[in-house]
Amino acid sequence: MDKAKRKAIIAGNWKMNKTPKEATTLLNAITPLVADADCEVIACVPYVDLAAAIEATAGTNVKIGAENCHWAESGAFTGEISTGMLKEVGVEYVVLGHSERRQYFGETDETVNKRTKAALAAGLKPIVCVGELLWERECNITEEVIARQIKLDLWDVTEEELKNVVIAYEPVWAIGTGKTATADQAEEVCAFIRAQLAKLYNQDAADAVTIQYGGSMNDGNADELLSKIDVDGGLIGGASLVAEKFAAIVKAASK
Ligand code: 13P
Repeated sequence: MDKAKRKAIIAGNWKMNKTPKEATTLLNAITPLVADADCEVIACVPYVDLAAAIEATAGTNVKIGAENCHWAESGAFTGEISTGMLKEVGVEYVVLGHSERRQYFGETDETVNKRTKAALAAGLKPIVCVGELLWERECNITEEVIARQIKLDLWDVTEEELKNVVIAYEPVWAIGTGKTATADQAEEVCAFIRAQLAKLYNQDAADAVTIQYGGSMNDGNADELLSKIDVDGGLIGGASLVAEKFAAIVKAASK
């Protein structure tokens, strides 16, 4: 499938940044700058910012996402948030399996899979993050790591459900380090992810999936990364917190 037929998606992952008031201020700065974007624009924000973010982006082309969700509908899971809670406030996307959750909060491929299934069942669109550690890249097992994550994280996800899944390739060594994967490295792994999807589903289904790159993407390198055939967008951390930088990345994806 022609890259141009896939949905380009630029998503900000705010991580643990911005209070509700600050979220409103930032989104009020972002929305006019991206109003004519020719790609999907998303801001994934902390839970307590969701209501303010949804209000600030009402009537605009900016969609709001959460940064995680639990797999159970309700129950004794102190500190967790259900898909139903997210749906009711108007969330459309949810980041799952981010490397920071895997690294600091014991997230495994099994729990990423449970969250992904629950999100899809609730009508949320998961942005499923995969990526290798520096050590894994140095040991030459990037493809094994990614293949395993893709297979396990999407276990039991149907071809129909896959239409609502976004994959984010985020090499862990490039996150928040200022060390970006080269465009060729990003393309190599994004193409590998698409090949894995083709194996697990079929070529048409794989060709339709939006695959983002994430890891120190910014207004200076977005053009080159996004020019690659299998890089359909970006999941942006630091640069998504600065309206002008985020808007410049959106502009690069709109070309
Ligand atoms: P940075 O853009 O800050 O490297 O973060 C990337 C990321 O983790 C997005 O989810």
